[in-house]
Amino acid sequence: MPEDNISGVVLTFFSTASSVGKTLIGVNMASELARQGYRVCLVDYDLQFGDVANYLHIQVERSVKDVLETMNSRPDVPLQDCLTQYRYGMISFDVVPAPEFLDEAYNISADDCRRLIEKLRLLYDYVIIDTTSMFSVLNLAMLDLSTIVTFLGVVDFIPTIKNMKIGNDTLRTLNYDTNKIRLVLNRSDAKTRISMEDVERLLGGEFYHILPNDFKAASESIVTGVPLVLGGSDSVLATEIRKLISRYTNRAYDEDDGLPVFDHGEENGRRKSGGWFSKIFS
Ligand SMILES: Nc1ncnc2c1ncn2[C@@H]1O[C@H](COP(=O)(O)OP(=O)(O)OP(=O)(O)O)[C@@H](O)[C@H]1O
Ligand SMILES: [Mg+2]
Repeated sequence: MPEDNISGVVLTFFSTASSVGKTLIGVNMASELARQGYRVCLVDYDLQFGDVANYLHIQVERSVKDVLETMNSRPDVPLQDCLTQYRYGMISFDVVPAPEFLDEAYNISADDCRRLIEKLRLLYDYVIIDTTSMFSVLNLAMLDLSTIVTFLGVVDFIPTIKNMKIGNDTLRTLNYDTNKIRLVLNRSDAKTRISMEDVERLLGGEFYHILPNDFKAASESIVTGVPLVLGGSDSVLATEIRKLISRYTNRAYDEDDGLPVFDHGEENGRRKSGGWFSKIFS
């Protein structure tokens, strides 16, 4: 069950290539944390091409555009009243979906997006942010305020790996706490001629966690709108996602029922110093 000292953790999913699994893994993280009883809000900051609502098969009644408008014009309205709920049986979490129309994304300011997260982190145990694959002003602001950034990569083509290297090197220059950025390899056993070890050597460090390739389980969950971790999937991918979460929440992973045993961890603290803003404006 939720504990006071772990409220307000911001988990951001970021990458420097598209289609590496940011949305799939983010959606499953939100679902598993909600299953464990935490108050969770999943925010889709892929403002132009967001997929969260599609992956969860939810009808968008109020997108991030509406939520921000209410936040700015009606501060008396509780934010939670503006959000969209995802529900599966007894499990539920709140969602801030991306705008319905692409052009609406142009009128959304990064500063408003940042202020929304600052407010949400006071209301939820976990705020999970899905992003795009670029060092945009919005993404840099999200990286700064995150507790943990999952920097996802896949080992498929040379350009993807080159971009992963640039992203990893750039993230290091932001002087975040060393534990903040978690380099996670997704689709590890997808057919490729490039070895993981070579990529780790190039990146100058090992992957924090490795998620297997499971096309069937991943695509089934998208087709049905039921995240892997909720649909009773016994796939290795679901298990590895749960293990990754247990490392983030600092709980021991219990293979039998998937519900971890609580162990106070130091990783759940609020944001650390350093980052893009302090680097640019110091
Ligand atoms: N571990 C995995 N095994 C098999 N397929 C996967 C895995 N992870 C993601 N996929 C598939 O890869 C595709 C892209 O995933 P996803 O949309 O989560 O990536 P993304 O990084 O959010 O992409 P974008 O940058 O376009 O937003 C989806 O079809 C998803 O099912
Ligand atoms: Mg995505």
